[in-house]
Amino acid sequence: MLKSVLKEAAGAGAREILRFFNKSFKVSNKEGVNNLVTEADHAAEKAIIEVIHRHYPDHQVLGEESGASTGSSSVKWIVDPIDGTVNFAHGIPLNCVSIAIEEDGVITMAAVLNPHLNEYFFAEKGKGAFLNDQPIQVSSEANAINACLVTGFPYTYINMPNGPLEIFERFVRKGVPVRRLGSAAIDLCWVACGRFDGFYEHKLEPWDSAAGYLIVEEAGGKVTDHEGQPFSVYQHKVLATNGKIHDEMVEVINNRKEL
Ligand code: IPD
Ligand code: CA
Ligand code: CA
Repeated sequence: MLKSVLKEAAGAGAREILRFFNKSFKVSNKEGVNNLVTEADHAAEKAIIEVIHRHYPDHQVLGEESGASTGSSSVKWIVDPIDGTVNFAHGIPLNCVSIAIEEDGVITMAAVLNPHLNEYFFAEKGKGAFLNDQPIQVSSEANAINACLVTGFPYTYINMPNGPLEIFERFVRKGVPVRRLGSAAIDLCWVACGRFDGFYEHKLEPWDSAAGYLIVEEAGGKVTDHEGQPFSVYQHKVLATNGKIHDEMVEVINNRKEL
């Protein structure tokens, strides 16, 4: 039941994305530079929450646009109605709905739907990860120097040692391809299905990372913070890899090892 409602909710959000994509819509700015929110973000979140609450009126929801709603249940839905809003606003078909279900503090089910590519990623804790119902697994690359990586940059740049540009430069100077797609949820799913070997980012929120985190883990990958410590969706720094290059990535990110 939860599984089918999750798919229905993702589908409802995706329909709103497609309804507005490449059409005219209202755009406003959030905190930071070019941190957009569009009419479609609000419409998609509303449609998703309507599905959740029609089936489970007592469930909690944490939505990027509407914030936290309380409920008597210990089940919490963590919703990003459009991950990749800047892409969406520019007609770039790399954006998605991302929804995770947290039960008693543990992420137990996750869905990421990119309606432009027709890709539905799904994972259930202990039961594997799937792309359009086919099992997926992470890549087998064992060396960071041969890896294909992906990252993202926050809307408000972080000036700090080992900041986003410092790490980016470290890999790129050694010739390692580091892509930047503009949707953390898609980045994570593409690690899960082996297109990328690793992903890191500095300032993600729970709605960006929660679904992709479970999908990577269930595909056999590893997700931690930048120190290699256990990951919580409520902290900002994410490192997700195929597992094999994880320790090496931690060393390079922290500038303790040269590639
Ligand atoms: C953003 C995307 C982007 C990441 C940003 C996120 P949004 O989410 O995931 O890839 O670099 O940090 O905020 O704003 O498009 O939902
Ligand atoms: Ca997001
Ligand atoms: Ca969003």
